[in-house]
Amino acid sequence: MKQKRVHIITMGCQMNVYDSEQMLRLLAPLNFRPTSQLHKADLIIINTCSIREKAEHKVYSLLGRLARMKRLRPDLMIGVGGCVAQQEGHRLFERAPHVDIVFGTFGLERLPSLVQQVNNQKKHIVDINPRGTSGLLCVTEPVFQTERATAFVTIMQGCDNFCTYCVVPYLRGREVSRKPEAILEEIRLLVKNGIREVTLIGQNVNSYGRKNGHGCNFPVLLEQVNDIEGLRRIRFTTSHPKDLSDQLINAFSRLDKLAAHIHLPVQSGSNRVLKRMNRGYTREDYLKKIAKLRSVRPDIAITSDIIVGFPGEETTDFEATVDLIQQVGFDSFFLFKYSDRPNVPAAKFSNKVPEAIKRKRFNRLSEIQGRFTLEKNKALVGTIQEVLVEGRSKKSHHQLTGRTPCNRSVNFSDCTARVGQVLPVRIVEAFSHSLLGSSVKGHEEYVGENGGISHAA
Ligand code: SAH
Ligand code: SF4
Ligand code: F3S
Repeated sequence: MKQKRVHIITMGCQMNVYDSEQMLRLLAPLNFRPTSQLHKADLIIINTCSIREKAEHKVYSLLGRLARMKRLRPDLMIGVGGCVAQQEGHRLFERAPHVDIVFGTFGLERLPSLVQQVNNQKKHIVDINPRGTSGLLCVTEPVFQTERATAFVTIMQGCDNFCTYCVVPYLRGREVSRKPEAILEEIRLLVKNGIREVTLIGQNVNSYGRKNGHGCNFPVLLEQVNDIEGLRRIRFTTSHPKDLSDQLINAFSRLDKLAAHIHLPVQSGSNRVLKRMNRGYTREDYLKKIAKLRSVRPDIAITSDIIVGFPGEETTDFEATVDLIQQVGFDSFFLFKYSDRPNVPAAKFSNKVPEAIKRKRFNRLSEIQGRFTLEKNKALVGTIQEVLVEGRSKKSHHQLTGRTPCNRSVNFSDCTARVGQVLPVRIVEAFSHSLLGSSVKGHEEYVGENGGISHAA
């Protein structure tokens, strides 16, 4: 079989990153190898996101560029997967007739057969059918394009929370937890292939196992992952504040591999807005959980997501968010301007916030956060951090890059370090988005903060 090249453009969240990797694995038996160069690809897949209006626009502007490529190379196969594909189905061909395959979020395992149908001259194939029985839940040998130390592992799909602004439950279906045995087997396989850090992913990992009753809840799963030999670090995302249990909070003091970082989206600091968002907690609940986390793990980094300009958000609501941000002192957060999404309840809410006010609120929060983040980064100057080496720095090829347990990027020089090693690095300078470090010599003897020898396993 002639070898072919596939290039996948991934947009959106970690689920899509993981799904794109699954696509590479599924296409390998058809003799497709990944290429990082668009013009060399025989098959281009866009794995799309629909979380905000802007994300959807990006898909169509990219498809416009690909239309020109397809005119020059009619053999080029183009697939559109992910959330916009799930949302639009056949309608996508009206705006982008040059697309060959539209496949949704539920049937990745059917992708190879869709590609074969195009090879057999079929046109405009759509598969947005519901979830199959295996799909993402099977474990296959990883396909890496470059040497890697970190990987995502899906532990659950879908979401049952129906926050009123959010399109995810409509595009990813109801919550389903993957079997613990499959998760553990996949992580062992990743570790065998050089991975040292896994991030367990799902829209609400805290409710893992609640519905499917695999006899295992999230803290118990974490414990089992913690026991995997050769694995150095565990992260997870996303946590829903309403389901953050004491058992999970305590895992931060009990599990030596669990990194000292939690991403805990708050969305708003106003109880009135939180209620209209259907988030299921109050600002007081949230602040209590933050205090508990910090009492269990004082060095924990806390990050969040915040939406400004939710319909009906008054100045007093916004000020409550400003106040919460100042009380918590997040290490950083992602800031979003609310946008209407198809068929979500909030799209029909009245009192939409004008764009100019959204922008003003956005700028005010990002200015406050910029100060906080820089201050927190500066506080790390002079400390020694355990850095997991991830590869060459994008800014300078002479430098390596890695992350601290608290999820800060550190660039540093060390000509002997390899991807996958955990090294002590002294922080010498702090910037808004990264740190500059200098490798501490004699790291063979360095005993990491978790009590383990910080050497590549
Ligand atoms: N399941 C995760 C993340 C979902 S999407 C969670 O519940 O936290 C990531 C973020 O996008 C959300 O946390 C929210 O802040 C933002 N978001 C979702 N829908 C949005 C919308 N319609 N407009 C603006 N931001 C949105
Ligand atoms: Fe969307 Fe809410 Fe589910 Fe997150 S928890 S994916 S914001 S519905
Ligand atoms: Fe986007 Fe779908 Fe993820 S809408 S954020 S890619 S679940």
